[in-house]
Amino acid sequence: MAQAIGVDIGGTGIKAGIVNLAHGTLDSERVRVPTPQGARPADVLETVREVLQVLGVADSQLPLGVAFPAIVKRGRTLSAANIAKDWIGFEAEKFFEDGLGRHISFVNDADAAGVAEARHGAARDARGLTIMTTLGTGIGSAFLYDGVLIPNTELGHLKRDGESIERWTAYSAMEREQLSWVDWSARLQEFYSHVEFLFSPDLFVVGGGVSKHPEKFLPLLELNTPIVAAVHRNSSGIIGAASLAADI
Ligand code: BGC
Repeated sequence: MAQAIGVDIGGTGIKAGIVNLAHGTLDSERVRVPTPQGARPADVLETVREVLQVLGVADSQLPLGVAFPAIVKRGRTLSAANIAKDWIGFEAEKFFEDGLGRHISFVNDADAAGVAEARHGAARDARGLTIMTTLGTGIGSAFLYDGVLIPNTELGHLKRDGESIERWTAYSAMEREQLSWVDWSARLQEFYSHVEFLFSPDLFVVGGGVSKHPEKFLPLLELNTPIVAAVHRNSSGIIGAASLAADI
């Protein structure tokens, strides 16, 4: 059975698993280690090494995909919203390749999650424009048109009151401000209505840790576009990163 390894670097945790490429499922347990304080490159590399060791794939030759919470263009990270500023303009893919001594494929985390849902999840066979959003520490987005990824869309950085809207609307805002589901959903409503007006999508898919509780907030949203929870929940990033690595 064809397999690849996926690593998903997030604001709070670094997660990894061995992915079954035919089914888009995990053939291993899902390993998670907290993201090091400050998320600086050398510390993140060390933690990725640790995660691969725990998973028992440190010396594996399987394709390895790494998903990361920043704009990623040709292997370089170009932004740093919830991570150390050292990542801006950083040759991240090369840094990990040198550090791990192997080839890797490096992509934006929400783009990876969107690919997983398009190939094996809630947006499978979806025609037209699917917008995947991940609600976590920040808000990530992926646009898929007839299943084809248009990378680096960054909807979490639409501006509201001079700030990135993710500061106000991400799941972390709900936790930080101890919002009720109703109050948080009112913020989501503003975000999704605006995105719906801008792009007229055919489907919204919602991922991130909070997609474990879709019944708490999805029914509160009033949109013209269907909105569904990600099938792979918190594993979408791992599955998508592995799938993209295996494409190369
Ligand atoms: C980053 C995105 C990322 C998202 C989710 C945002 O702050 O700018 O690149 O996809 O958080 O992690």
